[in-house]
This record gives sequence, structure tokens and C-alpha cells, in this order.
Amino acid sequence: MTNPFPRDFLWGVATAGHQVEGNNVTSDVWFLEHLPGTIFAEPSGDAVDHYHRYREDIALIAGLGLTSYRFSLEWARIEPEEGHFSVAELDHYRRVLEACHEHGLTPVVTFHHFASPLWLLRLGGWEGERTPELFARYCSRVMTHLGDLIGVACTLNEPNLPWLLASFGIGGEAPENRGNVPMWAAAAERLGVDAGTVAPFQFCSTEAGFHVKLAAHKAATAAIKAHRPELQVGWTLANSDIQSIPGGEETADRVRREVNERFLEASRGDDFVGIQTYGRTVYGPDGHAPAPEGAPTNGMGEEIYPQALEATVREAWRVAGIPVMVTENGLATDDDTQRVAYLEAAVDGVAACLADGIDVRGYIAWSAFDNFEWIFGYRPKFGLIAVNRSTQERTPKESARWLGGFARQHARAAAPQPA
Ligand code: BGC
Repeated sequence: MTNPFPRDFLWGVATAGHQVEGNNVTSDVWFLEHLPGTIFAEPSGDAVDHYHRYREDIALIAGLGLTSYRFSLEWARIEPEEGHFSVAELDHYRRVLEACHEHGLTPVVTFHHFASPLWLLRLGGWEGERTPELFARYCSRVMTHLGDLIGVACTLNEPNLPWLLASFGIGGEAPENRGNVPMWAAAAERLGVDAGTVAPFQFCSTEAGFHVKLAAHKAATAAIKAHRPELQVGWTLANSDIQSIPGGEETADRVRREVNERFLEASRGDDFVGIQTYGRTVYGPDGHAPAPEGAPTNGMGEEIYPQALEATVREAWRVAGIPVMVTENGLATDDDTQRVAYLEAAVDGVAACLADGIDVRGYIAWSAFDNFEWIFGYRPKFGLIAVNRSTQERTPKESARWLGGFARQHARAAAPQPA
């Protein structure tokens, strides 16, 4: 196959503020981590101290040969109290963006990656009526301060994840049942609100939540475009490759519709949609089907299925009909040789999509660093770069060298030849 990767194709790695920066103390996720009855395995603490080490981290990422860095801004830092915007925090992110440009990395900036300011939770979180307007106001303030340095803008990260998680029994309680769940009951008590109104981004999968997120995305897009109409803006979705074995077709169709398709349909009209795929979810007559006999698995017994990415990119192109950017793709494993093989196969799938004329704009692996994997704590290792959390020392793995090398080779091959 001739090299199908366009010259301006983005090759990168991703992080999210709460997972790497450390001490995101004014956020709702920090609050949840520390509640009695919390479902978080451990608190995020200092994370990998990216907040202070971003310069060396960005230099390391660029040194691998990559051309892009996707990271998120923490709304809770920028607006720690409703209506109070911290210029010092905005300046911090300005320095992060400047470091990206100094090192030739296109910054792909996510405005919201799961964590929100704690005060938003008191106002009904991601079911709150005012949330779209409040989110758009924050986006507008960010654009005033940082807009000129942003390369690509992602509004919300994985608004559809709660529906997928709920199918695995994580979160997703109906408002009237939240009071029976220790974590939500404790949150309600501390916040002085009714448990039925506790609706953090990652865990609420109600119809109201769907509409609030959609409205927030549209309002944020308009707010961002008001500052820079030409900036590419989209949201990023959690797209598992949803499949069935005999007897599971109906469930698979329902979940595919609820988790993937309706969000892809809602993306129509955006500049691009971010696709974030880790594997497949297979349904059988009894719900989730186990990994097939003999299938390769990671150390946690989960199936390794890199082919999923090609399927979800094709699904996004078919349903949304807009350009696609792979904004996350990766594998949790302690065995980096598995990760190299996974990335190779996934990137092959992207090449096949490009060869078929699908407009894919970039491939961004999850994650730059081993980091705080939300409710699972620090145990799962998704990083292309290892971090010793006692010393905060960074050590690139073979997978980091592989992706950087592949990016270098393909960016070069794609460059126009002199006449
Ligand atoms: C999220 C990341 C997360 C990753 C691996 C995605 O759902 O955007 O924050 O760490 O998957 O689970």
C-alpha cells in the first residue's frame, strides 16, 4: 500500500488534566474520591505532577517524533467558584500551550474531560438546566485568554460513556434510586442537596443528561466559533465496537443505538468527531458475552481486540458523515510488547480507512503516561511512558519509540517530493 497518511495528519498522545496534573482539589471528582462509600479505588493525589512538569513532559513527547499533544483544561481550576475566573490558572494553560508550539506539537485541547467544578454538582451537575450556558460561558472565557494558541478544540470528552458504563453496572442509577447508593447518598449529604440531583458527568445516563450534554456541546461550539470561526471544533465519543453472537442481536442493536449511533447523529454539522476506541463489547443471549476461547488477553483477562478501531472509524464516517479524528486508542497492559502489537494493528486499520477515502485527520494514542485511571486508580497501565510515582521519573516504553518512529517515517513519506 502506498502511504495513505496525509501530510498534515496528526500523530500524538493524549492525557486529561485530572488524570495527570495532581491536586485538582476544587473538582467534583476529587470530592467523590474522598467520600465515605466512594467507588474510587484510591484518590488521585499528586497524580504524575504534570501540572508542574509539563515542560519536560512536552519536550519528551515531541522528542519521540510525534506532532500533536492532546490534553484537557480543568474547568475547576479556571473557575473554582461560579463566576470567578482565575487569570493565574489561565496563564498556566497559556504556558502549556506555548510549550507545545515551541516544540512543534499541535495542541488538541479538550475543554472538559470528565471532571467539573464541585459547585456545578450543587446546581444539578450534568442534568442541571443552567449547565449548557455555564459551560459555554467558561469556554468563551478560555477562548479570550487562550484561543489564539489552540490547534484543535474538543468540547466534551465522552459524553456517551455513562451509557456504556451503566451496561456494566457502573453508575447509571435512576434519580429516585441514587439515595440508596452510599457514594451518592454521602455526596448529597455533604452538598446539602437531594440525592436524586447528584449527576456527575461520568455516571449519569438519564434522558435529561443526554439533552444537557448535547445542548452544552452546541452552546460551547458556538461560543468557541464566536472567537475563532475557522477553528476545528468537535466532541469526542467513547465508541466500543458493539457486536453480537447468536441470541444477543437485539441487545447489541439497542446498545449500539443508545451509546454510539445517536451521539454520532448528533455530531452531524460539526467540523469533526473524535473517536475513542479500546476494544469490542459483545452481547449474547445472557448479556455480555465472555472473550472467545483462546482470544489474546491483557494481564487483567480482558480481550485484546485492536481491530475495533477500524470498525468504529467506519461507523462514525457512515453515521455522522463528517471527518473523523482518533482522539484516543490504547491498551491497559503491563506487557509493553502487547501494546506495540496493538498499536501496529490499530494504525493499520486507520490506514485501511484512509485508503478507502475516509477522511481521518489524526491518530492520538491513549495515553502519554501511566496515570490515574478514574475509579480503578493507578493499577491499569495505559501509558506509552512509564512513571515512577515515588520519584516522578519518566521512562519511555518501546511503544512510545514505536509510535514516534512510525510518525516520523510516515510524515516524511507523505511530504511532497521536490520536482
Ligand atoms: C477516557 C480516559 C480513560 C481511558 C481509558 C477513556 O474512557 O477518556 O480518560 O483513561 O478511556 O479507560
